[in-house]
Amino acid sequence: MESVQAIKQRFGIIGNTTALNRAIEKAIQVAPTDISVLVTGESGVGKESIPKIIHQLSHRKHNKYIAVNCGAIPEGTIDSELFGHEKGAFTGATQTRSGYFEVADGGTIFLDEVGELPLTTQVRLLRVLENGEFLKVGSSKVQKTDVRIVAATNANMFEAINKEKFREDLYYRLSTVDIHLPPLRERQGDIHLLFRKFASDFALKYKMPTVKLTDNAIQVLLKHRWSGNIRQLRNIAEQVSVLEQNRTISADTLRGYLPTSGSNLPAVIKTAKTESDFSSEREILYKVLFDMKSDLNDLKKLTMELMKNGNVKDVEKDHEGLIQKIYGNSDETETNYQDTLTETEVISIPEHSNPHEDISSAQDKYHFAEEIEEEETLSLHDKELELIKKSLERHQGKRKLAAAELGISERTLYRKIKQYDL
Ligand SMILES: Nc1ncnc2c1ncn2[C@@H]1O[C@H](COP(=O)(O)OP(=O)(O)OP(=O)(O)O)[C@@H](O)[C@H]1O
Ligand SMILES: [Mg+2]
Repeated sequence: MESVQAIKQRFGIIGNTTALNRAIEKAIQVAPTDISVLVTGESGVGKESIPKIIHQLSHRKHNKYIAVNCGAIPEGTIDSELFGHEKGAFTGATQTRSGYFEVADGGTIFLDEVGELPLTTQVRLLRVLENGEFLKVGSSKVQKTDVRIVAATNANMFEAINKEKFREDLYYRLSTVDIHLPPLRERQGDIHLLFRKFASDFALKYKMPTVKLTDNAIQVLLKHRWSGNIRQLRNIAEQVSVLEQNRTISADTLRGYLPTSGSNLPAVIKTAKTESDFSSEREILYKVLFDMKSDLNDLKKLTMELMKNGNVKDVEKDHEGLIQKIYGNSDETETNYQDTLTETEVISIPEHSNPHEDISSAQDKYHFAEEIEEEETLSLHDKELELIKKSLERHQGKRKLAAAELGISERTLYRKIKQYDL
């Protein structure tokens, strides 16, 4: 049996933490059997190496290995991709076609993002797993195949089961052996090692000297959350390697490449998806727009108050909650908000002036902003309505949960329910 070290070398896997070694060891042990394996772990942790190791160390290694990204195939064609179809099974099926389960007979199929499989496909998959039988789409002739399945997911499968998006029986059938890869932040000993390896690879690729981190920069690297795990670390190593003239990288320079923690930017789409279960990226974008619109309204309110009142401290006191909602309350953002308020102070209205006159002239100045809002309102209202409806459905009408998911207060949700007559 090949050693864990030899496997790491053969498959280009860097790292030496116990959890990683244990995962590879499990893959080596399970490889010679036909047991189904489920590889779990956050996005970018390196799940894709595991099915390759399993296939290469199995008696199936001379037969086909097919990797299928279940999340990337449209729902309408996935059954046909996996199981094939008969001529005339649907419009456009001009010829009989073999699916992956027929082609990979004797080999291994890697079902990546298995949590994305439609329920109807899950039924077919369960049957293959149980007795090796399947039907081509549009056929009633049972076919046999001998395929080993390794699946992977970065989603919370128990949540998917609870929401009836994934069959529990299939989950247990797939995860006879579960191999879990830990997130990078739990592999402290590997972070700098991986960075050095990537930096040296990119130095070779781009024919430049290898970048080196100062001690402080190493500390920054170790403390970062790495929500995108090794994929993110690799991207940052590449950017630094290509863009930095000075090949010694300081903590400040490195920080410039790392997303600020606690950022509200929509970059962490996967987290948003699992946490609030918005089933498509489009929905997430609508939610971002919706949040932005709500922030804009809050800002308008605050600006108007500042113009009316003129005294920053009073407004700050009266609208503490609102300010915190817009600017958050971390140290970093607090500084930004202070900066913003100082700037606002410069344009504050003199106390002796007539506030009403000033407000109307200010409104004229910002007339363009109103126009933009008019234009966006129609479509945004539709999307907002759709989001609220879906969220309420998901939470069986429980307003508290829906409001938390939508990031608005229960009162605002109540107002919107009335407004849309829901
Ligand atoms: N231990 C490692 N050593 C070297 N490179 C690694 C390691 N783990 C992952 N990588 C690299 O990181 C990148 C992401 O890995 P991979 O595609 O396997 O992630 P994943 O877990 O499948 O993520 P997702 O759930 O998003 O598909 C790849 O380029 C891979 O080569
Ligand atoms: Mg992957």
